[in-house]
Amino acid sequence: MKILLLGKNGQVGYELARSLAPVAEVVSLGREDANFMDEGGLVDLVKDHNPHIVVNAVAYTAVDKAETDEATAYQVNATAVKALAEEAAGSKRLFVHYSTDYVYDGLKDTPYLESDACGALGVYGKSKVAGEEAIVAAGGLHLIFRTSWVYGSHGHNFAKTILRLARDREQLRVVGDQFGAPTNASLIADVTSLILHQYALNPDAINGKTGVYHLVGGGKTSWHGFATTVVEEATKVGIALKCETSAITSIASHEYPLPAPRPMNSCLNSQKIYTLFGIKIPDWTYYIPRFVRDLKEGEFRES
Ligand SMILES: NC(=O)c1ccc[n+]([C@@H]2O[C@H](COP(=O)([O-])OP(=O)(O)OC[C@H]3O[C@@H](n4cnc5c(N)ncnc54)[C@H](OP(=O)(O)O)[C@@H]3O)[C@@H](O)[C@H]2O)c1
Repeated sequence: MKILLLGKNGQVGYELARSLAPVAEVVSLGREDANFMDEGGLVDLVKDHNPHIVVNAVAYTAVDKAETDEATAYQVNATAVKALAEEAAGSKRLFVHYSTDYVYDGLKDTPYLESDACGALGVYGKSKVAGEEAIVAAGGLHLIFRTSWVYGSHGHNFAKTILRLARDREQLRVVGDQFGAPTNASLIADVTSLILHQYALNPDAINGKTGVYHLVGGGKTSWHGFATTVVEEATKVGIALKCETSAITSIASHEYPLPAPRPMNSCLNSQKIYTLFGIKIPDWTYYIPRFVRDLKEGEFRES
């Protein structure tokens, strides 16, 4: 069994390169080898490698920049994805893809189910919806994992930004009226690996299970709750910060205006992944101590 991983340098792609290794032979490519601006070249590349499974961890994830760079967002998140999905369907490859809580409008009172209608608010979310729709229309075997609030020790994310700010400032103001679940990139990669292991052992195991899955950390918090927890855990492991948790103020979304609108409710129900694959998702807080320890060992050591 051979897996072609696209996007090896992103937060999720980096963890996938690790977690998929025991499942099958993995060929991992980054932007330098596989550029989504050229979908023709991308399709040729997939044909050359001829994998059983294509895992796409590439995305245009600059949510605010997408508002003024719609063409690139759609090229990467929809046009190239459509070409890959059609090639995979025609060649009978399993296509694995990631999507986002931003496909929803966030107006629902309870956690979203995979069957809920999409209603993306901004360009990024709309381009991700278009990518999902293209995969479904291609008609091949596919798994789409919608995730949220992704962070990890590799790459750029909210949690690392908060720690940098808390190191430099005595007070922080963080949005407290948007709710969701932080999702560690290693959780996404590990769950993908467990499911692909089931597929590698028995490709029929996935029959009837093609489709969309929510894959997010368990539980719920706000950005303010996430920031407070990360700062608290970082302080516990001895990372020197100027800002204490009590100096992190919760503010309303309108007090921190951004170019792209955000869903107020980003909570996604992940029960389907347990029901169909038997995979239990830990609470989002489970991953925080390891995350801050990894940072302490890495980029925060000399600071
Ligand atoms: N980040 C989040 O909070 C979040 C939340 C919900 C869902 N998601 C979804 O989760 C998935 C993984 O996201 P992530 O957090 O791992 O994203 P990420 O860290 O931003 O990584 C995205 C990767 O895509 C690559 N890429 C962008 N444009 C490309 C192009 N034209 N050609 C080839 N590669 C290109 C980037 O390459 P370079 O490294 O060279 O720039 C990067 O390695 C995505 O589908 C995303 O939509 C993310």
